[in-house]
Amino acid sequence: MNYLVGIGNHFESEAVPGALPKEQNSPRKVPFDLFAEQLSGTAFTAPRSENLRSWLYRIQPSVTQGTFRPLDGATANETRATPTQLRWDPTPYPNGPVDFLRSLNLIAENTDSSFRKGCTVSTYTATAPMESYFYSADGEFLIVPQEGALLLATEMGDLEVHPEEIAVIPRGIRLQVQLPAKKARGYVCENHGAPLRLPGLGPIGANGLANPRDFLVPSAKFEEKRGSLEIIAKFQGRYWSAPIDHSPLNVVAWHGNYYPFKYDLRKFNTINTVTYDHPDPSIFTVLTSPSEVIGTANLDFVIFPPRWMVAEHTFRPPYYHRNVMSEFMGLIRGAYDAKGTGFVPGGGSLHNCMSPHGPDAETYYAAVKSDDNPQRYENTMAFMFESCTPFRVSRNAEESAQKNYLDCWKGLKADFKRP
Ligand SMILES: [Fe+2]
Repeated sequence: MNYLVGIGNHFESEAVPGALPKEQNSPRKVPFDLFAEQLSGTAFTAPRSENLRSWLYRIQPSVTQGTFRPLDGATANETRATPTQLRWDPTPYPNGPVDFLRSLNLIAENTDSSFRKGCTVSTYTATAPMESYFYSADGEFLIVPQEGALLLATEMGDLEVHPEEIAVIPRGIRLQVQLPAKKARGYVCENHGAPLRLPGLGPIGANGLANPRDFLVPSAKFEEKRGSLEIIAKFQGRYWSAPIDHSPLNVVAWHGNYYPFKYDLRKFNTINTVTYDHPDPSIFTVLTSPSEVIGTANLDFVIFPPRWMVAEHTFRPPYYHRNVMSEFMGLIRGAYDAKGTGFVPGGGSLHNCMSPHGPDAETYYAAVKSDDNPQRYENTMAFMFESCTPFRVSRNAEESAQKNYLDCWKGLKADFKRP
């Protein structure tokens, strides 16, 4: 696949040479009788450093579609808050053919009725390619495959993503999720807040963590399919369906800085202590969606990749923790260094605001007995969606959570030795 390289850049791409207007955004007559359409990812007046928009040159403009009607049964899911720590086994695949969109299984959300802040966490278990097209007006889709590849056919071109890669589909961009493998499972965090971007690096300097050049952007590609087709919109927490007589993936050329992208998590430049103690897990932030409060994320996407542990006279697993932020974790492969058993690839956990969490008893007692030899954590790729607002959990997720999760800490015994 032919990708454009980088993030934060203004790109231009054309599937047919000469399709992109060279000197202006909307000339009276676009080359080859295409239609010009601007897609705005931020308010027109957002500061230049924040401003996101692309110009799409398409066979027909997006207005050429029918009336939206609510999809049956697609009302907002009931959710409720709980301070109890929750953990889940992998979401099982359905028996029959279910596409990516219809397989979305709501775990937790913390958005409000504006869908302009917070996020919605789901898993997907797709066993069939999508026949419809889809976009979300409610947020951008951060897709984290755990098993099987996805082919994301978008307005701006194709992205193929595999486990240990991620993709971000910005708000409003239309796509169809195809299945190169027979089935695919993973996680979706729909970010309703400010668009995800690379975190600031502060004293780390100009390089490190996720490097901009490792992000890949699709190049223009279009299809001319016609027929009785369907476009599904997610709007205000509900799914809506409209007829359309042509594929909305009909963009022949585009330019701008609002586009989908993918990133290979194995390229993350991991930074950690070389003396003692831990930096906080924010050192592993791949992408962040800032809130209105400085330094406080609406959403941080954080990973725990393979890495060397070299800290001296230090308890190396993640420390016991209570956090004003709320943490949803998932595991893409291998094992996570805070848990011996019970947290397996495809599973998840939720530790809401101020709910205590940390290594299970087995991991704790092994770690306090270990030595200072450098150790490489090899077979692992865990991640966290961390948000400043507590999550509400879906009824289905609350019912399907492991019943014995809290038992993993029961073996931590009081052994205080008064001097
Ligand atoms: Fe934590």
